[in-house]
Amino acid sequence: NVGKSTNIVWQECSVNKEERQKLLRQKGCVIWITGLSGSGKSTLACALSRVLHSRGRLTYILDGDNVRHGLNKNLSFSAEDRAENIRRIGEVARLFVDAGVICITSLISPYQRDRDACRALLPVGEFIEIFMDFPLEICEQRDAKGLYKLARAGKIKGFTGIDDPYEPPECCEIVMQPRNGVCPTPKEMAEQVVSYLEEKGLLK
Ligand code: PPS
Repeated sequence: NVGKSTNIVWQECSVNKEERQKLLRQKGCVIWITGLSGSGKSTLACALSRVLHSRGRLTYILDGDNVRHGLNKNLSFSAEDRAENIRRIGEVARLFVDAGVICITSLISPYQRDRDACRALLPVGEFIEIFMDFPLEICEQRDAKGLYKLARAGKIKGFTGIDDPYEPPECCEIVMQPRNGVCPTPKEMAEQVVSYLEEKGLLK
């Protein structure tokens, strides 16, 4: 449907992004968490949201699973529909940033080009990509939803990491990895992200 809107004109409003940010006493940005199912994306998103919230920052999580219950309920897991899923969430995230909110997205977002397209929607520095770099074996072992088991049994087709691709980021702001074979806790990861945001002046 992209390209169908014609004869449209952008409408400016006198209350702008800077004024909204000033009102909220914060800067909006997108924290884009990508990785395999079971890599801890949603857990990190929640932990991070909690830490930022307790520090008086307004956050909002766009979680793939949740958005697929509503806005994106008509999309499958084909490469084309995943691209549309990510495009829509990228656009919604941009609206949140425009509203002055710290928007945390938690999506597999398996394709580099789809993530790049979302990054390109925002000014440099306002899109922070986090790669949950945990091996498939760890994610599969967790299998909190039992989906890997179904995928291995051939009951789910096109499951990311099993019979569908995941392209790791070529370059991103933060990589979460096991250290000496131990996975960092959600709290440790959230603190790492908060330190990054502080370093970049996003929490002034
Ligand atoms: S994507 O690839 O970014 O469009 O996926 P996303 O919107 O994040 O949705 C991922 C969640 O959907 C469940 N699920 C699947 N994941 C991967 N592949 C297939 N085929 C699939 N079918 C259902 C799964 O619960 C994912 O949730 P997470 O939180 O990643 O485990």
